[in-house]
Amino acid sequence: MGRVTSRTADLWHHYGRARACTDREVPGTFHWTWSQDIGPGPEVLGDLTGTRVGDLGAGAARHAVYLATRHQPARVVAVDASPAQHAMATDLYGHLAPRLRIVHADVVSHLHATHSEYDVLYSVFGAVDFTDPGRLLPAAAAALRPGGRLVFSTLAHYLSGAAARTDVVPSDIRAKTPSGEEATMRRWVLQEDVWTKLLDAAGFTAIEVNVLPATGEGPRSVDTLLVRARFPK
Ligand SMILES: C[S@@+](CC[C@H](N)C(=O)[O-])C[C@H]1O[C@@H](n2cnc3c(N)ncnc32)[C@H](O)[C@@H]1O
Repeated sequence: MGRVTSRTADLWHHYGRARACTDREVPGTFHWTWSQDIGPGPEVLGDLTGTRVGDLGAGAARHAVYLATRHQPARVVAVDASPAQHAMATDLYGHLAPRLRIVHADVVSHLHATHSEYDVLYSVFGAVDFTDPGRLLPAAAAALRPGGRLVFSTLAHYLSGAAARTDVVPSDIRAKTPSGEEATMRRWVLQEDVWTKLLDAAGFTAIEVNVLPATGEGPRSVDTLLVRARFPK
């Protein structure tokens, strides 16, 4: 059977689908780590009171919902390119509008269309992992107001345990089409100093990268990189 690419099918169709059938609650926690059960939380984003916040690759929008309901931002915009994820987020949390705005778009297009509109942009293993950083990071810089923040969590190494890349090259990772066919999608798994150079080149300052170590054991035990940067005033 031929392999398909992300251009021809929604490769995020299955992601979070089982959970959405049973868990429609407003989340009680916000974590950055791969395991989603420990480590720093939304305080990393700073005081969100009155801010415009964007979640890049929000999936079912659970992180965005947490911020919209437990903090006092002016608005949280949950952006996702997947029709399935957008539909899931709308079904689960569409009633939280206008505090939460659920947008179906590629983040690069969305960010270019929202010049200097955001105070805070973040991604939890979201679009930053799956989009060419040479396109996404300059677009994020353009969408931030002076002094705005970009924060994202991403893999510190491959799920196999192999080291992250020292160059800006994606890897093809396995995915499934809605009908279950094998497919691939691109994922950028980059070392700390590579992210730092990319952010610097996109105009960011105050770049900070921390490793959040995995807490569990076994093959699915994964370290997280937590990356923070500012768009200068
Ligand atoms: C691993 S999921 C993470 C979702 C969510 N952040 C979470 O923690 O549950 C990655 C998400 O990023 C979205 N995504 C990837 N590239 C994107 C892009 N260029 N524009 C918008 N969304 C994108 C996918 O559709 C998918 O929903």
